[in-house]
Amino acid sequence: MRILDQDVSGGSAIAYAGLIEKIEILRSTLRWSARLERPDIEKLLRQFTALRDEVMQLSHRERFVKAAAAEPARPRQAPGERRQALLERSFVFEGTFGDNPKLLEALEIAEKAAPTDLPVLIDGESGTGKELMAKVIHANGARADKPFISVNCGAIPENLLESELFGHRKGAFTGAASDRKGKFESAHRGTIFLDEIGELPLTGQVKLLRVLEAHEIQRVGSDEAIAVDARIVAATNRNLRRFCEEGRFREDLFYRLSVIHLTLPPLRERKDEIPLLIAYFGDEAAEALKRRPVALSPRLRDFLLDYAYPGNIRELRNLIYRISCLAGETAGLEHLPEALRPVSPAFPAPAGSADAAIPKSLSDAKRAASDEAEKALLERGLQEVGGTVAELARRWDMNRSHLQTLLKKHGIHSKDFRRAAAPDKSP
Ligand SMILES: Nc1ncnc2c1ncn2[C@@H]1O[C@H](COP(=O)(O)OP(=O)(O)OP(=O)(O)O)[C@@H](O)[C@H]1O
Ligand SMILES: [Mg+2]
Repeated sequence: MRILDQDVSGGSAIAYAGLIEKIEILRSTLRWSARLERPDIEKLLRQFTALRDEVMQLSHRERFVKAAAAEPARPRQAPGERRQALLERSFVFEGTFGDNPKLLEALEIAEKAAPTDLPVLIDGESGTGKELMAKVIHANGARADKPFISVNCGAIPENLLESELFGHRKGAFTGAASDRKGKFESAHRGTIFLDEIGELPLTGQVKLLRVLEAHEIQRVGSDEAIAVDARIVAATNRNLRRFCEEGRFREDLFYRLSVIHLTLPPLRERKDEIPLLIAYFGDEAAEALKRRPVALSPRLRDFLLDYAYPGNIRELRNLIYRISCLAGETAGLEHLPEALRPVSPAFPAPAGSADAAIPKSLSDAKRAASDEAEKALLERGLQEVGGTVAELARRWDMNRSHLQTLLKKHGIHSKDFRRAAAPDKSP
């Protein structure tokens, strides 16, 4: 995990000297001008604004670097103690659960980053809690009582992007029936969460960069510059460094967004926490569904402890809510979604049983498990891309015809997933 991409502390003396020099130039301009016309005043004001931004940025970095240096990570401190220490400092967890060292490290960095306005980039696989972490950063900062505006950059069609982010004037384009505020204006004084930033097209990246530099936006169809003060938190499940190398993401934007860079661990790296997470979400689901916490059959418990969770915490949470909703007192394998059930047609679960039958040999069991896992993954993948095989092949970096062959082998029809195109972003 990276805290800062560059070591800014070493260069700060030089940076401050540069700022003082600029201030002196402005002071002498003012002192020696006999008379200032409006354009001169505006020019000076612009220079002052730029200077103020530089000072703010430098001081935020300084504060962050100092805080980070003052309290070095204490790896030997027990996870429970680290969580307790955060609690004692009135840290707002926003429901973030877990004692995994990487998660705690992310929370400790979030604690230090929250009071600053430094941009934060959060990466991690799908469902690892990136949006939750963005809310944690917002909730622990001075902007907590101001808006938190979430924008899914991957879900906005390219031609509507500018209007969504920056708003538009009435009549700016066909369908612009009235003036409309964009997400940046809505996030004024608060936080804007730019989700799936890796999906932002290059044209949008240029526009975003301009806003980050000037701290002002222009609505589509308007010349008026509107000042916006929104703290930026961005998230991605892509490797943005690789995207930069491939020319798909602007490097300058990457560096601007990732002054603080947090990476959230996938659930398979926190396997020891799965029992605790099951209990946590089991209680949460019981409360939400107004029932007693569901008990798990031994085979369901084994499955939940071993499963790979490609959808990470979201998937685990959804599974627990599902079984809490469907099961009576005790949940069994039959309460899992069909695509996940570790039962091959060769080993069907006996009717009415809370668990499946046991395979006859180890190799049968392995084959059945591997087939089922492959099928489940294909179905989940298709669900996520709304049934578009080409897109799935691209995401998984595999040959499209090989993917088609696998789908055929399992009797999966991509068109059956077309209606479920919108990915489930809700818990
Ligand atoms: N550490 C955690 N403790 C409790 N709940 C969590 C944790 N991490 C994630 N969750 C829950 O898991 C679900 C998914 O989290 P979130 O939406 O933040 O993930 P994400 O990384 O943004 O996913 P995606 O990449 O798919 O958008 C949410 O319901 C969230 O509350
Ligand atoms: Mg998300």
